[in-house]
Amino acid sequence: MASSSSWLSLSLVNSYAYAFLILLTSSKNATGCYTSIFGFGDSLTDTGNLVKIDPPDDPPHEAFPPYGETFFHVPTGRSSDGRLIIDFIAEYYGLPLVPPYVEWKNEKRTNFRKGVNFAVIGAPTLDLAFYEERGIYDPITNESLKVQLAWFKEILPSLCNSPSSCSEFFQSSLFLLGPFGGNDYCHSFYSKANIDEVQSFVPIVVEAIGSAINELIDLGAVTLVVPGMLPLGCLAAYLTYFETSNETEYDSMGCLIWLNQFTEHHNELLQREINEIRELHPHATIIYADYYKAAMPLYHSPQKYGFMRGAIVACCGTGGLYNFTISIVCGSRPSLGCDNPSLYVDWDGYHLTEAAYSLMSKSLLDGPYTIPQINSPCVSLPVPADSSFDW
Ligand SMILES: *[C@@H]1O[C@H](CO)[C@@H](O)[C@H](O)[C@H]1NC(C)=O
Ligand SMILES: *[C@@H]1O[C@H](CO)[C@@H](O)[C@H](O)[C@H]1NC(C)=O
Ligand SMILES: *[C@@H]1O[C@H](CO)[C@@H](O)[C@H](O)[C@H]1NC(C)=O
Ligand SMILES: *[C@@H]1O[C@H](CO)[C@@H](O)[C@H](O)[C@H]1NC(C)=O
Repeated sequence: MASSSSWLSLSLVNSYAYAFLILLTSSKNATGCYTSIFGFGDSLTDTGNLVKIDPPDDPPHEAFPPYGETFFHVPTGRSSDGRLIIDFIAEYYGLPLVPPYVEWKNEKRTNFRKGVNFAVIGAPTLDLAFYEERGIYDPITNESLKVQLAWFKEILPSLCNSPSSCSEFFQSSLFLLGPFGGNDYCHSFYSKANIDEVQSFVPIVVEAIGSAINELIDLGAVTLVVPGMLPLGCLAAYLTYFETSNETEYDSMGCLIWLNQFTEHHNELLQREINEIRELHPHATIIYADYYKAAMPLYHSPQKYGFMRGAIVACCGTGGLYNFTISIVCGSRPSLGCDNPSLYVDWDGYHLTEAAYSLMSKSLLDGPYTIPQINSPCVSLPVPADSSFDW
C-alpha cells in the first residue's frame, strides 16, 4: 500500500535513490534540516507575487476575499482559502513561509538566506513570444519560468559569490520547481488551439523545465523537487469549459478522460526528462513530486477524507454544474463566499482548498520516501488523529 502511495515517487528501487542516501550521509553540513527553500512556478506555488506585480488599481481577483479566509483570514495573493503545498513544506522544516520575491524586492529587503519564492499566478513555462506567434495569449502574466530564473540569478550574489560557495550554500536548500504547464495548456485551449497543436507543445514545455533544472544544478542546487501537474480533467473550470453531453467522455469520478490523459502525458514526459538529467548529474537529487497521484484518492473517495461536498464542484463560485462561471470568478464579487471550504477539494475551479493541499502535503512529507530528511528529525507536521491517508 505504502509503496504505491508516495506521490514523491522517488522510487527507491533505482540507483538514484542510492546516490541520494550517500548524499545525505556524507553531507558535511548536516544541520538536521533544510535551511532555505527556493520556489518557482505558477498559482499552485505563488505566495503573493502577482498581487504585487499587477497595478494597485487593477488587482487580480486573488487579492479579494474569500481568498485566504481559512488560514490567513485576509487575502495574501495565494490561490486558495489558505496554505499551499509550499507553505506546508516550509512549516514542516521549521522555516518561515517562503516570502514572495516581488514584495521583498519592492520593500528593498535583501536577506534571502532562508529562501524566497519566484512563482507567479498565471505563469507559463515558455515565454509569451512562443504563444503570441501562434495567436495564443496569456492574459494574466508574462513572468515565465525564464523570467523567474533571471530573478533568481539577480539575488544569487547576495547568497554566494563563487561556484564553491554556492554549492556549499545550496547543500541545505530545497528547490521547488513547479508545477509548470497549466498555463501553457490552459491558455492554448482557451485560445481555441486544437488538441493536436497543444499536444505538440508538451515536449517543448517539458524541455524548458528540464533546462531550468540543469541551469539550477549548474548554479549549485543539489536537491530539487519537481512536481507533475494536477489532474486537469477533474478541475471545475475545465469541466465547465469542456462540458459535453457525451457521457462516455467522463470516468466514474466525473472527470474528463481525455484531459486527464493529456495531463498524464505531460507528466510522463517530465519524468523521462528528469531521468535523463539524473544521469547527467548523479550528485544531485531530483525528486518527482507526483501531484497527480497525490490528488487522485481525493477524487476517488472524497467522503472518506471529509470532503462531503465532493471533489469536482468548486467551493467559491457562481453556480452551474460545477459551481464555476468564467465571467464571475471567485473574488470578483463581494457576495461570493464559501462557508466551509474544508468540505470541498476544489476551491475556485482551478485550485484546491487548503484541506486538499494539506492532505497532499502529508502524503509527501510523512510518506516512506519523504523529501530527504537531512540527518536528524525536523519539526514535524501535526498528524491528524486519523492518519489514514494512505492508498
Ligand atoms: C511584462 O509586461 C510588463 C507590462 O505589461 C512589462 O513592463 C515587462 O517589461 C514585461 N516583462 C517581460 C520580461 O517581458
Ligand atoms: C558548512 O560548514 C562549514 C564549516 O564546516 C561552514 O563554513 C559553512 O558556512 C557551512 N555552510 C552552511 C550552508 O551552513
Ligand atoms: C462519445 O465519446 C466517445 C469517446 O471519446 C467517442 O468515441 C464517441 O464517438 C462519442 N460519441 C458521440 C456521439 O460523439
Ligand atoms: C457555490 O459557490 C457559492 C459562493 O461561493 C457557495 O455559497 C455555494 O455553496 C457553492 N455551491 C455549491 C453547490 O457548492
